[in-house]
Amino acid sequence: MRVSSDHIVIGTGIAGLTYALKAARSGTVSLLAKTSRTEGATPWAQGGIAAVSSASDSFASHIQDTLDAGDGLCNPRAVEITVKEGPARVQELIDLGVPFTKSSDADTRFPFDLTMEGGHHQRRILHADDLTGKAIHEALLRAVEQNPNIRVFENWVAIDLITNVTLMKRHKGAHPGAAHRRCLGVYALESGPSHANGHGPIHVLEAPITVLATGGAGKTYLYTTNPDVATGDGIAMAARAGARVANLEFTQFHPTCLFNPFAKSFLISEALRGEGGELINSKGEEFMKRYHDMGSLAPRDIVARSIDAEIKRLGDECVYLDMTRVVKKHGRDAVVARFPNIHEACLKFGTDLTEQPIPVVPAAHYTCGGVLTDEHGESSIENLFAIGEVACTGLHGANRLASNSLLEGVVFAERAHTRALARKQAGLLKSGAGDAPEPLPEWDSGRAVPLEDRIDINHTWKEIRTLMWDYVGIVRTNRRLAKAQERLELIGHEVHEYYWDFLLSRDLIELRNLVTVAQLMVQCALLRKESRGLHYNLDHPFRDDRFFKRDTVL
Ligand code: FAD
Ligand code: SIN
Repeated sequence: MRVSSDHIVIGTGIAGLTYALKAARSGTVSLLAKTSRTEGATPWAQGGIAAVSSASDSFASHIQDTLDAGDGLCNPRAVEITVKEGPARVQELIDLGVPFTKSSDADTRFPFDLTMEGGHHQRRILHADDLTGKAIHEALLRAVEQNPNIRVFENWVAIDLITNVTLMKRHKGAHPGAAHRRCLGVYALESGPSHANGHGPIHVLEAPITVLATGGAGKTYLYTTNPDVATGDGIAMAARAGARVANLEFTQFHPTCLFNPFAKSFLISEALRGEGGELINSKGEEFMKRYHDMGSLAPRDIVARSIDAEIKRLGDECVYLDMTRVVKKHGRDAVVARFPNIHEACLKFGTDLTEQPIPVVPAAHYTCGGVLTDEHGESSIENLFAIGEVACTGLHGANRLASNSLLEGVVFAERAHTRALARKQAGLLKSGAGDAPEPLPEWDSGRAVPLEDRIDINHTWKEIRTLMWDYVGIVRTNRRLAKAQERLELIGHEVHEYYWDFLLSRDLIELRNLVTVAQLMVQCALLRKESRGLHYNLDHPFRDDRFFKRDTVL
């Protein structure tokens, strides 16, 4: 099939849905979801969305907290934009009907409850109990589903971007290296349950504007809070198309995931610490006070590293998050009412958080780097935008401040749309497929045959994730990084062979992306010869401003 529209948006998380709604006011949108439209990190977000809203807070304070968490690497312009434009974007969510939890304090002029998380010096996080992402996602999705200009394609897996270079490669003698790159569309595999082994047809989507909103790459690691779709597809596609990607050494490990073999790294929100929960070790000591003056509410990189050190020091398997003192202060019912989802999940896995400390460990949570964009969310390829977790806007620097991610998604969706609209109004974009100089070519499957046995894919997938966890984790060394690089190169060759020999399926596409992103992560980590934020290398244990480099750009 050939699908033409004014905008292609890949991803139905907060960033993709927000952009689609705005773009649909003046054009048609093809909106792709790799699986169901409800899969992605957004509906899983717990803590909330940060935005300056109370009289005691200020832009200066939110900016400073973001810069401090980012450990000297944030782009100050991206920080200022996000913080200052944030409240208007949050108001749009409120207007859309997101049921943020109301404040019980009758004195406050702002009607919503504001919570606290690590690295913040003010209460500035709006939340919907402990299921903020779900509340936001449902409201956005409702609006999208009512919009006749948006067509949602579920189980359509974007494979590769189509650019002018794709076209040039078809013509003998053309030298694509020198081309100014421009995005023209994308190939996508239809892989719903009705297609045997997921080998559905491959479609051509064409539009003058393409938006990557594919989320992060947590699945490169063995233990992650991320959903299964987080395989870094947007980053890998952009890199293959020649876009600049940056700062992939900065994977954020969330300090507190439920330690239980059956819980699949279920997140225990930082908001529990924001409301008074304390991290303790197996001896009952509040160890974080030894590591940072903000104690359990220190920035995330510091807490995750301290937990790692504490676990190794005591030879334990986990540390604990103690909410029992909060229960003593506010009462059991108040704590259960504030964290109903987390309370229920913990109970299911055998811990009543109102009575017992919760066993917790860190897990890969957020990809701070990604497709390098300008302040309008545009990548180094013209007409290709990247918004949300897939992007590297410069907001997060070396470590993201809690609850700044949902905010970044809405702020940069608006900015990307404003830029696309301006370009259209200036007559720089033709509608539908009109921007391509010739019809976009069909996907060529060559002599690929169906893959009978999936064991190789499953094995290689697991090997990459284990390797990343063991060698490119919270604490790194030059030797481990070099070993990871060597091994990933071999795996990359293997995957390349499967890729062209067998018919495409979702897991094969994801495997190729996973190995690409893992390689990019290791490359970035090897280039940074210092420890900063989330990148901690024992061979370069200190931050070194002599080699200051805002972005590790590949
Ligand atoms: P996502 O919401 O992840 O959506 C990605 C979309 O891209 C999905 O629709 C997926 O199907 C689609 N996709 C991916 N690849 C392809 C492909 N090849 N083809 C087609 N479609 C594709 N941040 C906060 O600010 N506050 C919080 O409280 C918070 N809590 C969190 C809790 C958890 C458990 C997790 C995992 C993250 C949390 N985060 C939080 C981070 C935040 O949720 C994410 O960074 C944010 O939701 C990402 O939004 P997104 O729109 O970029 O991508
Ligand atoms: C959390 O609730 O702890 C997650 C918040 C975030 O990742 O920003």
